This record gives sequence, structure tokens and C-alpha cells, in this order.
Amino acid sequence: MSHNIKGLVQDSSSKQCVPLCSLADLKLRFLCPSDLPEVKTLCRQWFPIEYPDVWYEDITTNPHFYALAATLHMQIIGLLVAETKPLSKMNKEDQDILPPSLTGQTQIGYILTLGVSDSFRGHGIASLLLDNYLGHLTAHESPQVQAVLLHVLTTNQRAITFYQRRNFV
Ligand SMILES: CC(C)(COP(=O)(O)OP(=O)(O)OC[C@H]1O[C@@H](n2cnc3c(N)ncnc32)[C@H](O)[C@@H]1OP(=O)(O)O)[C@@H](O)C(=O)NCCC(=O)NCCS
Repeated sequence: MSHNIKGLVQDSSSKQCVPLCSLADLKLRFLCPSDLPEVKTLCRQWFPIEYPDVWYEDITTNPHFYALAATLHMQIIGLLVAETKPLSKMNKEDQDILPPSLTGQTQIGYILTLGVSDSFRGHGIASLLLDNYLGHLTAHESPQVQAVLLHVLTTNQRAITFYQRRNFV
């Protein structure tokens, strides 16, 4: 099955405004191997894509990924998975939506997955995860990332609005 997707890229020149999360007991932590079954169940609920098992193994074990879980009372209710790679390793279509001034060596932040469990949406959890990731990218220890990119189904208006309000174009 094929899906219409569009690439969104963040305009880093604009200011971000991220709401605080309204859930007091919410915690953020990195994924670990024992999270695999829970992550798989959640991704199957949120996304119309079947990822291979190796993908779940990768994002729960490989430190290359910035794989963050939002938990409430030990249960994962939100996830953000991202990676950093040079522009030259991106698909041609993705390269084309990035500013032409960027070179092949430019580091790009790519968000593979962002999702929040249905009953916890609208509490600022995705904003918190995204803010944490963008904060990590602007920290000194991270390789210098010049743009953040992601894909979203053209029918996923809620997610498109979410990203557009956070300066993605
Ligand atoms: C898109 C998605 C990640 C958004 O998650 P979310 O946790 O609901 O997002 P947030 O709560 O941070 O922001 C959503 C809205 O709730 C608002 N909000 C934030 N805190 C709130 C609160 N305490 N009470 C009510 N609303 C609040 C935000 O302001 C935001 O509205 P805005 O865009 O008008 O500013 C979620 O709908 C989802 O998981 N969808 C399915 C998976 C998906 O499509 N992922 C994206 C493609 S990768």
C-alpha cells in the first residue's frame, strides 16, 4: 500500500513556543531493549505502517537513535525517535525541500516517529518530546544540525497543524 506523504522541515529562524506538559507525574527517559513489545504495540496503533522487527530492535538498542519515551506510572504514553545524518544520505526528494545553501556534509535531524497515546493527546506531551529533542540538538555536545526534517501523511491534518504551529514548513 502506498501513502501520500509530505516532508516538513523546521524554519530555525523563527522562535518556538512550546506549552508545558499538564501531567505532573510524566517522566522522559530513553528507550531500552525491554521496551520493544510495548513500543511495537503503540506504533501499530498510531501508524498505518508495518515496521520490520529489526527496526524495533534498532530503535530500542542502538544509541545512534535519539529514542525518547514519555512515561506515566511506568507506562509508555508517548514516543519520539530521531536520528542525525548528513544531507547526502537523505532521499533525493528530501534533499529538494531543504534550503539549497546546505551542502552534502550538513547534518540533518530526522524525526522517524512522534506519537502520543490517544487518551493523552492535547496535554502537551508531543510538544514536550519535541522540545527535548530540539534542545538536545542545540546543546554543544551534539553534532551541529542545520535542519530538522520529518514525513507525515498528507491526510494527517492534526499532525501537520501540530508541526506547522511549531515552525515546520
Ligand atoms: C500529532 C500528535 C503527536 C500530537 O500529540 P499531542 O501530545 O496531542 O500534542 P500536544 O498536546 O503537544 O499539542 C497538541 C495541541 O494540544 C495543545 N495543548 C498543549 N497542552 C495542552 C493542555 N494542557 N490542554 C489542552 N491542550 C493542550 C497544544 O497547544 C496543541 O495545540 P496547538 O497545536 O493548537 O498549539 C498526536 O496527535 C499523535 O500521536 N498522532 C498520531 C501519530 C502521528 O500522527 N504522529 C505524527 C506523524 S510522525
